[in-house]
Amino acid sequence: RRILLVNGPNLNLLGTREPDIYGRETLADVEALAARTAAEFDMEVRPVQSNHEGVLIDAIHAAREDCHAIVINPGGLTHTSVVLRDALTGVALPIAEVHLSNVHAREPFRHRSYVSPIADFVIAGCGAQGYAFAVRRLATLLAG
Ligand code: DQA
Repeated sequence: RRILLVNGPNLNLLGTREPDIYGRETLADVEALAARTAAEFDMEVRPVQSNHEGVLIDAIHAAREDCHAIVINPGGLTHTSVVLRDALTGVALPIAEVHLSNVHAREPFRHRSYVSPIADFVIAGCGAQGYAFAVRRLATLLAG
């Protein structure tokens, strides 16, 4: 089984971008952690990161063909994007929403997520480890 791992805008800067908020792990570290965790359950990860909304949407559509679940950190698009939400709803796969930071403890504009209402679960504030938790939980859901 395969999980699409989507990281949205600015997450390519992980490790150097506001490390006090987002941690010191790089995007490559996060993707490797997700892949290692998936391997424990005989699953694999297809990572995609883009700063372009349309690229993310195309990747989500493509997942319909050959992925069984999606882990997504939509970055700032979390708080703005109807089209990203519609893409996720459209493919009808289990969705895990992950945020490195605890968005609820931050600015009010980060408290609203267009994705949370259509996600199976949400993990925020666990740093890079949140991606591993998400993969684990999806493994449980897919096995059930
Ligand atoms: C984020 C939180 C968002 O508010 C922010 O725009 C990001 C990263 C997180 O992982 O904590 O880019 O999704």
